[in-house]
Amino acid sequence: MTTTVGHEPQTMAWTRKDLLGLRELSAEDIRLILQTAESFREISLRPIKKVPALRGKTVVNLFFEPSTRTRTSFELAAKRLSADIVNITPQGSSLSKGETVLDTVRNLEALKVDALVIRHAAAGVPHLIAQRATSAVINAGDGAHEHPTQALLDLFTIQEKRGRIEGLRVSIIGDIAHSRVARSNIWGLIKLGAHVTVCGPPTLMPAAIDQLGVRVTHDVSTAIRDADVLMLLRIQHERQEAMLVPSLREYRLRYGIDQDRLTHAKPDVLIMHPGPVNRGVELDSRVADGPFSVILDQVTNGLAVRMAALYLVCGTRKEEDLHGDTPH
Ligand code: CP
Repeated sequence: MTTTVGHEPQTMAWTRKDLLGLRELSAEDIRLILQTAESFREISLRPIKKVPALRGKTVVNLFFEPSTRTRTSFELAAKRLSADIVNITPQGSSLSKGETVLDTVRNLEALKVDALVIRHAAAGVPHLIAQRATSAVINAGDGAHEHPTQALLDLFTIQEKRGRIEGLRVSIIGDIAHSRVARSNIWGLIKLGAHVTVCGPPTLMPAAIDQLGVRVTHDVSTAIRDADVLMLLRIQHERQEAMLVPSLREYRLRYGIDQDRLTHAKPDVLIMHPGPVNRGVELDSRVADGPFSVILDQVTNGLAVRMAALYLVCGTRKEEDLHGDTPH
């Protein structure tokens, strides 16, 4: 299938039912999503923020973990493409009465939905559902495994701010061991030609991480020096069985990014964070809200990227659908 997305005809093709992780995507797949997102970006700047591209399609947000950015931006993305969207949480559904996840999905499919956006605390749940479901599945974060649309919006933001990804030096600092954002970014950044450094305490660094093609350091000064992008991560308390750093104060002293540390960074360094930020731990407020921070640009770009993800997996691809101004 060849798409003609946006202002320039694309020769690349989206052939996948699902979007589960960046590990299995090719560099060409990633570029197609980023280019599709680019063509959707301006829709959110229009007075009427809606096109009929997914009119008649039904999307279900199935979130088993809390979320602000991902859930909301998938909901807005579906609405801006004129899809119908339903939000389901365990507390408000028959999951709370003991129904299994797969039975829930079977029942949703009986209602003829087109796409399922799934976040779950256990790695692999979206993959399991994707194997059983005929509808498209988008992974909105599975345990410490992958968070593909977060990494795609991060790539989109770097591309937007720097004009390229290839050859850039990106340092990911924080709780690498429990971070699905780190894993998806490592896959994506390396596929697009960036040099990736990961930095954090030894207790928060997964074994054999260097086999993914990254440089590993436990010294934050090394990670900051020469980096074009500093991507900060919070400590994922919810995924740790024991406290793996002596204290948050100790962590902040060794790894937190404040104004003093930033003086050793490149003068045009980008400060990124997937959110939610633990202010005063991994990131000082003056840095989070400072001139180098693109944290809210990441959130804005997440909408265009999630529109692209829904559009591609739902399989609608007519040029006039993208650029029609009239909601139907
Ligand atoms: N970055 C991210 O996934 O944020 P939410 O948990 O708020 O969706």
